[in-house]
Amino acid sequence: MPERLRCAVIGTGGFGLDHLNSLLHCPRATAVAVAETNPERLKEAADRFKISRAYADYHDLLDQPDLDAVTIAVPNHLHARIAIDALQARKHVLLEKPMAMNAREAAKIVETAKKMRRTFMVAQNFRFNRHTQVAKAIVERGDLGEVYHARCFWLWRSNIPRIGSWFTQKQFSGGGCTADLGVHMLDTCLHLLGEFEVKSVSAQTFAKFGPRGLGETDWGKSALDPKKPFDVEDYSVALLKLKSGRTVSLEVSWAGHHAPDTREYGVDLHGTTAGLSLYPARLFRPGPNGFETIQLSLPIVSHNEDRIHHFVACALEGKKPLVAPEESLRFSSCWTRSTRPQPPARKRGPVSFGERTAGARPSDRIFRFTFWKGLFSRSQGLVLAACR
Ligand SMILES: NC(=O)c1ccc[n+]([C@@H]2O[C@H](COP(=O)([O-])OP(=O)(O)OC[C@H]3O[C@@H](n4cnc5c(N)ncnc54)[C@H](O)[C@@H]3O)[C@@H](O)[C@H]2O)c1
Repeated sequence: MPERLRCAVIGTGGFGLDHLNSLLHCPRATAVAVAETNPERLKEAADRFKISRAYADYHDLLDQPDLDAVTIAVPNHLHARIAIDALQARKHVLLEKPMAMNAREAAKIVETAKKMRRTFMVAQNFRFNRHTQVAKAIVERGDLGEVYHARCFWLWRSNIPRIGSWFTQKQFSGGGCTADLGVHMLDTCLHLLGEFEVKSVSAQTFAKFGPRGLGETDWGKSALDPKKPFDVEDYSVALLKLKSGRTVSLEVSWAGHHAPDTREYGVDLHGTTAGLSLYPARLFRPGPNGFETIQLSLPIVSHNEDRIHHFVACALEGKKPLVAPEESLRFSSCWTRSTRPQPPARKRGPVSFGERTAGARPSDRIFRFTFWKGLFSRSQGLVLAACR
């Protein structure tokens, strides 16, 4: 096993620079090469991170025999092609979200990773967030009872990436806000539920701001095409029914008139004995003095960096990644269905969910932990113990 993983970054636009920065802080990796089609961005990345090998064509980078792994941050329509080429060149691959444009492409990536026996992981950074990880441990311990419904959302008021860039053109992005933001929260939600098998999806999408040139932000470095500015959704809503019968609602927007005092993104889990919400992680349940809220105060750390550290460790040690390729494959078919308007689900009678705790007085308990080490560390055990 090499001591340090020799890595390269393909695509050094807005988020490729984040990959390079994370690699810089990873003690078990070294960034040795970059590939980028835009000459200015290629030079900027190579100069800034002092990388001597810089390629305009990623195939030349993949030909380098001393390279162990690549991280890929290019427009979505290129994900599958570049990931498959890299795996076939025997490189380990960390691929940005969304994994692919559709489940067919995703299946080819997983098949190639298996065949070539390389580590493959989709960079679902929210799974590495401390709050998500504590939530996952609480759910797995059974503190919520039976979790029957979950709600996940990302509701931005005015954050459409530059209109006319690949982000706002379906042929390059595969979808609008759902492909960009929805995949973060939906993946986190299904990860917490431990279930990726979706039976049905009922969805509706809208494009109410982008086509009018409203709600734009300056994210993304790629070129603009003024002729084809916007043919994706800037708002989507979906109801997913999982194989177990549990339901998940998803609501996503790049732009919209949302109340300013609400969380921008998060996941809420409804269980028969307690509820849990992210972000931040909070637990709601009946206590000795009425209904109580347990707030988990955790240190803010970069989960983007953590997902690179984890990928590097998996590649070096041959461990299975936290974001398992098979989960990402199943996930590919469910998020793409959430960007397509579908006929509404059949009407059903009212459903009752467990007991009410009427008249209970809320009481808040706040737990603070100032230290935190590693992904599943001792402090996580302490947080969990404090929630008992
Ligand atoms: N995980 C996250 O939180 C997060 C955040 C932002 C973006 N992303 C993802 O990262 C990816 C890139 O997004 P971005 O915001 O950096 O976009 P961007 O447009 O800023 O950058 C993409 C870069 O890829 C380059 N590129 C295009 N074709 C290439 C090729 N064949 N070879 C090498 N480089 C090529 C472009 O020139 C550009 O510089 C997307 O898949 C996006 O969904 C993830």
